Amino acid sequence: MENSKTDKRICLITGANSGIGKAAAIQIARQGYRVIIGCRNKERGETALSEIKEKSNSDDVELMIIDMALQKSIRAAVEALTHNQVDVLIHNAADFDITRKKREVSGENIETVWATNHLGPVLMTDLLTERLKRSEQGRIITIASKGLVAHPFLKVDIEDPEFKSKSYSVEKAYYQSKLAQVMYAYWLAQELKDTEITVNCIRVTNVKIDIERYPNLSKAMKLSYSMKSKFAITPEEMALTYTYLATSPEVNSVTGKYFDEKNKEVSSSAYSRDEANIAAVMDMTMKYLK
Ligand SMILES: NC(=O)c1ccc[n+]([C@@H]2O[C@H](COP(=O)([O-])OP(=O)(O)OC[C@H]3O[C@@H](n4cnc5c(N)ncnc54)[C@H](OP(=O)(O)O)[C@@H]3O)[C@@H](O)[C@H]2O)c1
Repeated sequence: MENSKTDKRICLITGANSGIGKAAAIQIARQGYRVIIGCRNKERGETALSEIKEKSNSDDVELMIIDMALQKSIRAAVEALTHNQVDVLIHNAADFDITRKKREVSGENIETVWATNHLGPVLMTDLLTERLKRSEQGRIITIASKGLVAHPFLKVDIEDPEFKSKSYSVEKAYYQSKLAQVMYAYWLAQELKDTEITVNCIRVTNVKIDIERYPNLSKAMKLSYSMKSKFAITPEEMALTYTYLATSPEVNSVTGKYFDEKNKEVSSSAYSRDEANIAAVMDMTMKYLK
């Protein structure tokens, strides 16, 4: 591995070619960080790279090609990363194809929402932990959803997280993966408690999405989304919490917490805070990552 030197702190953020991730990349680059955007599509990544550089007025932005649904791609991307220190890692990329009607699997035969939104971040963090430890103060941020508030009794299905033997709904798969990311943040904060690395999770609220990203949306769904977006905040507004947790000295030693869009600590469900449940979810998760 080549050692590329920079005096700037380095922030790696996945899924930064659109929405909140792109807005956060711009804000964090403006704060003087070198920002690496992890994107699965080269063309969309390059377009975003130019926009982020222009809007942040910084040339210190890099593109990393990575498909978070594929462990092989995550391993290759991390292997190819030339920086031997990472200061901030933000797991923003997520699969939530609201038009999906049937269960889909990745090229590695894992249900794509589970693979992308939960397994991918866990594997990527694991591969980057040594580089995060080299930071004076490393930060890992996972992303969940305020929608979980409407599902207070939701559990991660330890026996069947991939919907192999029950009916599929992309919404159920999505919320399960986001619940797992909340629990993962609590677990990892404990695992890393004797290091300088902090781990926190963001509860993203209703944020405007680019409807053009979903060309197969039915008229009814388009209408429902345009109604929902009337109550939504902008990606730039939500990204302020990403930027706060990624860069603010105020949270230097805050770890294992869950934050809302006002940078306030919030609680998650009783199930998600239970140590035995967290251990069961992480035991099952680790079996996927051998
Ligand atoms: N918008 C909301 O109301 C809302 C609410 C709760 C939580 N969230 C969470 O907030 C985060 C950002 O969402 P957003 O609203 O900004 O949505 P978005 O614009 O759709 O952004 C999602 C990003 O993830 C990327 N992505 C998806 N699958 C990937 C994969 N396999 N590998 C690499 N990148 C992949 C997408 O890239 P492509 O262009 O290649 O698809 C896109 O850049 C997500 O974690 C989401 O779950 C959003």
